[in-house]
Amino acid sequence: MCGIFAVSLPGNEAGNLVLEGLKKLEYRGYDSWGVAIRQDSGEIILRKDVGKIKDVQIQFEMSGEAIGHTRWATHGGVTMANAHPHQVGKVTLVHNGIFENYLDVKSKYQDEGMGFRSDTDTEVIACMVNDFLEKGMSVAGAIRHSAEVIQGRFSLLVIAEGFPGIYAARRGSPLIIGRGETGTFIASDIPALLEHTNVVNYLDDDEMVHIEGNKAEFSSLISGDVIEKREVAVSWKAEQASKGDYQHFMIKEIFDQKKTLRDAIDHDDEKLHEAVELLQKSNGAYFVACGTAHKAAMCAEYYFAEISGRKINVVPASEMPSFERFINDKTAIIAVSQSGETADVLEILERGKKAGAKILALTNVESSSMARLADVHIPINAGPEKAVASTKATTAQMAILFLLAYADAGKLNLGREILSGTASAINDLINPRYENYVKDVAGKILNQKSLFIIGRGSLFPMALESAIKIQEVSYIHAQGFPAGELKHGPIALIEEGVPCLVLGDDQDTLSNAMEIKSRGAHIIGIAPKRAEVFDDWLKVPDCGQAQSIATIVPVQLLAYYLATFKGLDPDMPRNLAKSVTVK
Ligand code: AGP
Ligand code: GLU
Repeated sequence: MCGIFAVSLPGNEAGNLVLEGLKKLEYRGYDSWGVAIRQDSGEIILRKDVGKIKDVQIQFEMSGEAIGHTRWATHGGVTMANAHPHQVGKVTLVHNGIFENYLDVKSKYQDEGMGFRSDTDTEVIACMVNDFLEKGMSVAGAIRHSAEVIQGRFSLLVIAEGFPGIYAARRGSPLIIGRGETGTFIASDIPALLEHTNVVNYLDDDEMVHIEGNKAEFSSLISGDVIEKREVAVSWKAEQASKGDYQHFMIKEIFDQKKTLRDAIDHDDEKLHEAVELLQKSNGAYFVACGTAHKAAMCAEYYFAEISGRKINVVPASEMPSFERFINDKTAIIAVSQSGETADVLEILERGKKAGAKILALTNVESSSMARLADVHIPINAGPEKAVASTKATTAQMAILFLLAYADAGKLNLGREILSGTASAINDLINPRYENYVKDVAGKILNQKSLFIIGRGSLFPMALESAIKIQEVSYIHAQGFPAGELKHGPIALIEEGVPCLVLGDDQDTLSNAMEIKSRGAHIIGIAPKRAEVFDDWLKVPDCGQAQSIATIVPVQLLAYYLATFKGLDPDMPRNLAKSVTVK
């Protein structure tokens, strides 16, 4: 949530580099954008606007230091006044996160006669840091003192008039420090740094850093003590984080699945066995995740039940508080997350760890917060995923979860064999001819207001995931159901012409399809075999127990074409952001 970027380097290009960096982070939030640059005169000036940054073409004033932000609004509407950076006195800052107790602090300052220009929680932080600075503290001291007051997760960048360099602090929201030869960069995500360097320091919770040119000094956000940080080389390449010849990241990432599925399968045995050992030693396993990652975890519930006979619990992270009484030092908590930064999941892991639970994390981002917090981390190896709608990370997560179930059953090689067949089948499936079939179906349902999806077994979570994909990029109301459930209520919504995606061709599901076709539904089958009941049919290969992985691919394509046919930008759907780092 929210993209943050900062540069300190010799020369005059900092403002322009921050603008470019923000464009690479826009998937994290696109309500408004803003850049603060320190001019040669020492004055700090702001440029900001409402809306997306991708089309902004301005040449910035000459500067060697600048900070910037793309916002995903939490407190205060999408307005110029609420766009970051926020400036109070000598202090200019950008913020990712929520200052939960900001109203208490704000009213204290208002009582003292202080006026606020925005409705944000962020401006109150700027006010506090400036207040402490005016009371004689150093900038670092003022930030530390403010951090003592702030409740909630945050990351901050601060630039202050009369004090060279840029300060950054972190508690719960990601910040990565890129180490160039002559300068230093700070970003909330790795892809924005790759063009400049692949050598980074990961800022941990309750740490801060002061950067100036190529110097970076790390310290504790609590004690102020200096901290030594390790430099890490990142393996992602800049090309992997670019669209190449594709029109959107979403379609590129759908096509990337030709390779990413294989990369997920090629995981080393040792890591998978280590993960399974953690599960086997536990007395109860809770899989926690949000959104699409939660649907991948729901598939795991079926995989483990069918393949290794293990009962696992799958809970949306935000619902986990009701079940936390069952978490103890014998529990395994398994986090599934593309970003490894989702706040709802992180909170459960942090509390679970305190209760003594063992943590396994499946994430796509190297050294993400979850990866570093986990006892065992399995990277899903899908490469940078930038479209807000998750595609290649989803199938990679499902593949690893499938392998874990097979490893749990002591038959890892058989699991690999099945997935290898699935990867080849998906490789053959995604081609321009198949895309045309999908486009044809998309054209037929484009103007529908509502759409239903049904599936059985592990295709039920895929019905839910199909709904998320279609809702988030095409804004068509879509709802997934277990195939047998429609007749218990939702069937009342079926009327002439309402499209229904039927995932699978087993006899029971086909009977359910017939029940709704009889009431006028337009049936689109997504299945290996054509059935009489299908009005339209998108063929998927028969992948046996891994059918869920193959079945979601045509739906991803369908969602993409529904969005683009409606003239929508599938990479940046309204109201959404790629990483949700607030509760
Ligand atoms: C995916 O298409 C969604 N945009 C969203 O549901 C996402 O899967 C969810 O926010 C979880 O993110 P994570 O995998 O980074 O934890
Ligand atoms: N809470 C802040 C705001 O609403 C920051 C949101 C963000 O992380 O982008 O402005």
